[in-house]
Amino acid sequence: MSFEKFVSATFLLSFTFISGTQALLPSGAIVPLYIYPTDSTGGVCATWTTYLNSITDNPDLPFYLVINPDSGPGADATPSSDYTACLPTVLALGSNVKLIGYVLTGYGVGRSSTDVLADVATYLNWPVSYRPTGIFFDETAATSEFLSQYTTYVNQVRTDIPSDSTVILNPGVNVADDSYFSIADFIVTVEDFYDDFSFPGSLVVNATEPASQQAVILHDAPSTLPAALIDAMTAAGIGASFITSEPQAVAYNTTPPYWASFAAELTASQS
Ligand SMILES: *[C@@H]1O[C@H](CO)[C@@H](O)[C@H](O)[C@H]1NC(C)=O
Repeated sequence: MSFEKFVSATFLLSFTFISGTQALLPSGAIVPLYIYPTDSTGGVCATWTTYLNSITDNPDLPFYLVINPDSGPGADATPSSDYTACLPTVLALGSNVKLIGYVLTGYGVGRSSTDVLADVATYLNWPVSYRPTGIFFDETAATSEFLSQYTTYVNQVRTDIPSDSTVILNPGVNVADDSYFSIADFIVTVEDFYDDFSFPGSLVVNATEPASQQAVILHDAPSTLPAALIDAMTAAGIGASFITSEPQAVAYNTTPPYWASFAAELTASQS
């Protein structure tokens, strides 16, 4: 290698090091972050403090934060000032934060493609200081009949975010057509009551439906952190998980009481 090439290679290496780009852990946390970010005293991001602290405390753990300002991005071009004030702070926490915009799809029939794509466009036209880098398509129909429709949605995200986009589909159950795994980064294959879930029995994991692309969301869990389940899921390489002891009705509008321990266990079980 010439001296010049050596110098530039060294420079690139140190640049990478300084900018803190390191491999993230394979099993992350997915957060249905539907809580409004401002508290009653007007504190910016105040209601998200537990989540934001966990992001700082677990710098190698990926956090897929699904924000949902108004059952989607809302009718306006930009969200309320409570969001625009908070989101840049969230993005600055580290490269382990993935900001994902919530879009309702109505199982392929409840919402028109025009409305779905308009929501995608709204998020992806937000100013770069708080723009999401991925989309969470809720109420996904995962049958063959709707594959081309969801492929159109996903392709729009890939076009609008040329690199490092994250697409999560949420049928809440396993897909009927495993082609959905070829278009999404993650599929929420379980969104359920803790007691109705067993691991690994409740999941289909094989070459076309890899664990690394599956996300598991459980509510009504016991009040004691289910550490053994978390350890088993990270050992199997499940892509992302969320477990809350809160009841279904408020599961995504409250912070799980043991969130800090949950995130710490995800990290510890992979370290
Ligand atoms: C994975 O499981 C699904 C659902 O049972 C099945 O349709 C698919 O063919 C399986 N893929 C492989 C590679 O076994």
